[in-house]
Order: sequence, then structure tokens, then C-alpha cells
Amino acid sequence: MDRFEKRAIALALSLVLMFFGLIVYAAKGLQADLPTCLPYKREIKQGAFQEIGPNRYQVDVVAFMWGFDMGQINTIRIPRGAIVDFYVTSRDVMHGYHIDKTLVNLMAIPGAITYSRVKFDRPGEYQIICHEYCGLGHQNMAGKVIVE
Ligand code: CUA
Repeated sequence: MDRFEKRAIALALSLVLMFFGLIVYAAKGLQADLPTCLPYKREIKQGAFQEIGPNRYQVDVVAFMWGFDMGQINTIRIPRGAIVDFYVTSRDVMHGYHIDKTLVNLMAIPGAITYSRVKFDRPGEYQIICHEYCGLGHQNMAGKVIVE
């Protein structure tokens, strides 16, 4: 092997190690939110709505044929300026979870959890729809976030 090849291999390996180290540092050192492909160490059995701090909320969303269990079926109410963590799963088939006027566009997958965080600065009603065809009642799957 040519010495330039060895150098190129060493450089490539050290970059891989450096990037991996940076991911670990971001997760552990900076407590950053990593992409949703990483498994979450939590379990969702049913929908739940919780206040977890000043104007901070967490919603466990369980999609089902045909609706969204978010602690209450299909509707949650939060104050203006709230920051909300959405953890989304499904109890039967694949569904979608899209919240209008936000960037939330998740899949609800049985056995997996997808995640998104949103700050709701404007009062009003935000429609939630299922954007994945899931059977006869698909078009009836709708919900609401009401920001007061
Ligand atoms: Cu659920 Cu379409």
C-alpha cells in the first residue's frame, strides 16, 4: 500500500471517530435533541397530557382508527407561548400526525415513537390531521390544538 493511501485511510477513520464523538458530546454534554431516528427510552401506552414546567407541556399521542388520544380524545388546550413536546405512536396501523401552521409532520408508527417540539406563539386553533391513508375512517381523523 502506498503511503498516501495509508494517510487517506487514517484521515477518513479519524473523521468518523471525530463525528461520532461530536454526536455523543451533543447528546450528553449539550443535552441537545437528536434526530428522531434514535430510540426513545420511554413507553407510551395511552395518550397523556402533562405540564412539565412553566409553560412547558408534554403530550403523548396515541393514534388509533380513527382518532388521536392525547390524554383527551382529539383536543388539547394550552396557553399562548407554550412549548410542547409531542411524542407520537399508534396502537394499530400507520397513521400520520400533521399540525396545521406548524412544522409538525410525523408518522404514527406502531411500536415506535416519533417526536417534535413546537412553540405556539399565536392564539387560535391548529387543526391536526392524519396524512397517511389508514382505512375507511381516514378522513375522519382530525384533532385540534387550541392556544388560548
Ligand atoms: Cu389515520 Cu389516516
